[in-house]
Amino acid sequence: RLLIIDFGSQVTQLIARRLRELNVYCEIHPYQNVTDAFLADFAPKAVIFSGGPASVMTEASPRPPECIFDLGVPILGICYGQQVMMHMLGGKVERGHGTAEFGRAYVTPSDDRIDLLSGWFLEGREQVWMSHGDHVSAIAPGFEVYGTSPNAPFAITADTSRNFYAVQFHPEVHHTPNGATLYENFVRLAGFTGDWTMEAYREQAIAAIREQVGDKQVICALSGGVDSSVTAILLHEAIGDQLTCVFVDHGLLRLNEATEVVKMFRESYNLNLIHADESELFLGKLEGVSDPETKRKIIGGLFIDVFQKYANDIEGAEFLAQGTLYPDVIESVSFSGGPSVTIKSHHNVGGLPEKMGLKLVEPLRELFKDEVRALGHELGLPASFIGRHPFPGPGLAIRCPGEITREKLTILQQADAVYIDQIRKHGLYDEIWQAFAAILPMRTVGVMGDGRTYDYALALRAVTSVDGMTADYYPFTHEFLGETMTRIINEVDGINRVFYDVTSKPPGTIELE
Ligand code: XMP
Repeated sequence: RLLIIDFGSQVTQLIARRLRELNVYCEIHPYQNVTDAFLADFAPKAVIFSGGPASVMTEASPRPPECIFDLGVPILGICYGQQVMMHMLGGKVERGHGTAEFGRAYVTPSDDRIDLLSGWFLEGREQVWMSHGDHVSAIAPGFEVYGTSPNAPFAITADTSRNFYAVQFHPEVHHTPNGATLYENFVRLAGFTGDWTMEAYREQAIAAIREQVGDKQVICALSGGVDSSVTAILLHEAIGDQLTCVFVDHGLLRLNEATEVVKMFRESYNLNLIHADESELFLGKLEGVSDPETKRKIIGGLFIDVFQKYANDIEGAEFLAQGTLYPDVIESVSFSGGPSVTIKSHHNVGGLPEKMGLKLVEPLRELFKDEVRALGHELGLPASFIGRHPFPGPGLAIRCPGEITREKLTILQQADAVYIDQIRKHGLYDEIWQAFAAILPMRTVGVMGDGRTYDYALALRAVTSVDGMTADYYPFTHEFLGETMTRIINEVDGINRVFYDVTSKPPGTIELE
């Protein structure tokens, strides 16, 4: 496996993404944790130093342990990683006077070609992405220069005898279009064959679950989302009937969703599944509540109570399975400190395992979201299920701003189903990151046939996004919007007006509450 030492770059996770795409298994660890003992235990086959915001000229700046250079394994330093490598191996780093570089730059090669650069410089020069204040002003003994840019005379440097490579730019980002080639060359010269596949992972994960759980019972909160579904199926494959899933139905799901989820897991997967239909309880407690945070807190709290109630009835449960993903696990290197502002309280079951005295099983801890999808595919989940848009824990409650009523929920479920059907029929579903309808807390006047109507208004939302952190509205054609409006008003009773939400995030959030 490959070790990525994180020095606090904003894009360290992208290095891991690029390597995983090459079927190489890697882990990111913050530099503080990488001690001599850690290295001995981890035994990396190759190491990458990430970028980072610090300056090596500051005494307390982050460093890897000295012994890393004696491991005899290939090392690649990126940006700050290059500077720290040069600094520790006897080169020089300086603060730029007019040599800071941010953004696009072009690197030209030296005459010498090394394996790291094979397949690069096809056009004579390569576009790269720079982001540095300091720069290397003298390379360490043993190193040679293999590429330069106008402001970075040491853009690509290497000591090929020791397999140490150091670049000033960021090959992991999108704006270094051929950056993946550098990573590919690096892992090949480090001896990786690219055998980290989902097929292999499935076998490993199943063996690890059996080893961890033994003959004990496991419970799992199944939401019908991709992460919890893949977790459940993987566990079921590993331990069969030792697994019981609890599907907490809060009555805030999409049209027919509860029935479909229960049917699929019971019939296709033959899983022990408790359908905890507690919609009366949830909707009862939400009656008359219109404040968004109060709604979220009520739903989150009840979810835990309900799950606990059903779980307590499962004899001898010792483990709780959770679909935690790798991005939730990576400890980030924080230089800014201080808590960030809570925009919305997110819905999760954190804290439950301790409260219930359960041990955790988290078979997806090492995976990124798209790897979970690949694993789901490997486990035979239907493509339409794996590719579903994200759905929030509090469900339709946050798509019904203000007070929730059963009438509004029914209208919303139907209108949402028509909208999504339209998107699928036009072949747009996979282009959109998330699409849904929301019912607005207002009635407006309309005319249908010869009569006056006084009904609810619907907001349609569809966004493109990479990770849900930022988003832009999806540019539907006017024809599409017109046709969708007509279908919704014709097919759903209780709606007489349709809006399309063109707010990006920021300033809006994706959900309405
Ligand atoms: P916002 O509305 O914050 O949403 O822009 C970003 C993404 O997160 C989803 N979301 C949630 N997911 N529990 C979840 O599991 C929640 O409480 C929650 N709130 C928002 C939202 O659907 C979008 O994909």
